[in-house]
Parts: sequence; C-alpha cells; structure tokens
Amino acid sequence: FLLTMVLVLSLVVFANIKIGVVLPMTGGIAAFGEMSWQGIELAHEMYPEVLGQKIDLVLVDNRSEKTEAANAVSRVIDKDKVVAIIGEVASAHSLAGGAVAERKHIPMLTSSSTNPLVTTGKKYVSRVCFIDPYQGAAAAIFAFDNLKAKKAAVFIDVEQDYSVGLANFFKKKFKELGGNYFIEFFKTGDQEFSAQLTDALNKNPDVLYITGYYPEISLFARQARMLGYNGPILAGDGAEAEELIKIGGDAVEGLYYTTHFHPDGAATEMTKVFVEKFIEKFGTKPGAMHALGFDAYLVMRKAIEMAGKADPKAIAKAIREVKNFPGATGMITINKNGDAEKSVVVDMVKNGEFTYVTTVNPAEK
Ligand code: PHE
Repeated sequence: FLLTMVLVLSLVVFANIKIGVVLPMTGGIAAFGEMSWQGIELAHEMYPEVLGQKIDLVLVDNRSEKTEAANAVSRVIDKDKVVAIIGEVASAHSLAGGAVAERKHIPMLTSSSTNPLVTTGKKYVSRVCFIDPYQGAAAAIFAFDNLKAKKAAVFIDVEQDYSVGLANFFKKKFKELGGNYFIEFFKTGDQEFSAQLTDALNKNPDVLYITGYYPEISLFARQARMLGYNGPILAGDGAEAEELIKIGGDAVEGLYYTTHFHPDGAATEMTKVFVEKFIEKFGTKPGAMHALGFDAYLVMRKAIEMAGKADPKAIAKAIREVKNFPGATGMITINKNGDAEKSVVVDMVKNGEFTYVTTVNPAEK
C-alpha cells in the first residue's frame, strides 16, 4: 500500500505539466498558426520548466474553422487533460473555443485575438495583446493625422468578428476626429472585389481601410491598384504575414497596418533577447505574431509559478494578476477583465519588407 501511495504521489508531483496549444496550422490563415507556434516553441525551449516540473505542449490544429476551433479546445481538455490552453488566433475562433474553456473551467490565454468580446463576461479567457477599441482608434488617428485623410472607405469581412469590431472602432474615432466614411462588405474566401472597389472608388476616398486577414487584403490591394487607385491603403494586425507580400507584390508596397510589435521598435530587455534567439533559431527576423506567441507562453508560465500549483482555477486567477511582466512585445499587465493594455505599432511595407513607422498610444489622445 505504502509503495502504491509513494508511486501515485510521485506521479502527481513529478508528472509533466500539460498545456494545450490550439492554432490554425492549416487552412485560410495557416501562416498565423505557424508564426505563433514558432514563438511558443522558442519560449518553451528557453524556459521548459516551471515549479521544478517539465512543461509539455500539446498542439492541435483548428484548420482555420470555427467548428474545429471549439472541437480542438474540447479535445485538449477531455482527451489530453491539459491544465491550461494557449490559443487561439482569430477572434472568431477564440470566441468559439473560449466558450468551451469557460464552461469546463480551464484557463485559456490567447496571444493575438483582439476583439473585446473574447474575454467579456469570462473568468477563464484572457489575452496578452491589446483590444480593438485601441487598435481601431490608433488606425483612425494615423489616417487622420499622418495620412491627412478626410474620407475613408472601410471594408468589412462580415464573417470575422475581428473585422466587424475593428471597423466599428475605427469609424467611431475617425468621425470624432472630424473625418467621414462609408462602408463596403466582403467575406472570408472571396477572391473578387471589383464590385465593392468600383463602388468605393467612385466616391473618391482618401484612404482604403481594409479590416480582415492577409489572404483577402493582398487581393484587395492588387485589384484596387489595377482599377487605378494610387492612394494609401491601411489595414489592421490581420495583414502581417509574409504571404501578404508574396501574393500582393507591388500592390502592397506602401501599405500601412497597425500591429503589436516590430523588432526595430524594441520595447524591453526581453525584446532584445527574443529577437536574437529567434534569428539564431529560424534565420529570419521575428514579426508580431511570433512575439505574441512567445509572450503568451511566458505569461502562462509566470501565472503557473504565481499560482504555485498546476491547478486550472488558480492559474486562471493568477493570469489576471500578472503585472509589469517584461515580454517581447513590451511590459505586460493583464487587467481584471483579462485584457492587456499596450501601445499600438504602425508598420508599412517598404521595399517588400515590413518596416517600422511609429507607435501610437490612443489612450493619450
Ligand atoms: N487580431 C486578430 C484577431 O483577433 C488576429 C491577429 C493578431 C492576426 C495579430 C495577426 C496578427 O482576429
């Protein structure tokens, strides 16, 4: 009996801590999944343990689909018995998966879902990124002040909570600043935007603001240039993937987008360490999605350490008590709603590369 007790005890004490990672590894936004995973992998390699125990990561693909986003969360909880989850990427996916995590009382920490509703009314779902009221306001300020735009054409992907929300927050701020706008709709997977673009260009906008993800943004840019539009194109964090440049080519040259991080806008000591290690491991410079994945892992690990045990409820609580944590993307403080408050970076595509432009703090405007 004693021997069994010792065995069971040692299993409990020395068992690895399992964390689920749910990402879009295939499908429409697979580039985001790949980038997040690289950031998480690097952080795991650098800090593989917590509370003297090894951390095991269990990666599950949501195939860039809403139904799979929920299924994948159920799977890591029920089958793999994880104590916490890092994920997902698209806000629509974190909304679907987050509902499951909340119901099953397993903490979920998204690196990059920015729609406010992802954490609203929840105790178990938090994030290490800013939310879209900030991002949308920062884009509006940049369009109005820096691009001197007075009239904006706002393009909305009706299938993405992220896009709908971001467009709304932009509109509100842009109007407040004295600008006006009109809207056009599209949906994920569309390839042909000439109807919306023709209609929009007839109204002579000063800027095209495209909220959505890189597959559609790159095609939008190409078709807008083909129709003779030479003005500025502005997008959100959903633009940032190498695919944007691969598919968009010359058409995305000069495109601006708001985001979370740029290696040239270095924020903390950890930023330097992260950039150096990332280049060493992958041979390329990291982007926002890599840095956010890296930070999500570090914050999760920190929360487990603060909780003092691998207990889901204690971890969920500790995540929202993380204050002034030096991450790759900046100092991270998670508020009581589970959101991080951070400044917004503006980048542009210059000579086929993502280039740092400026940092905007909408809260101070
Ligand atoms: N913010 C996007 C969303 O909520 C996801 C995203 C973040 C995409 C960062 C790219 C970079 O859906």
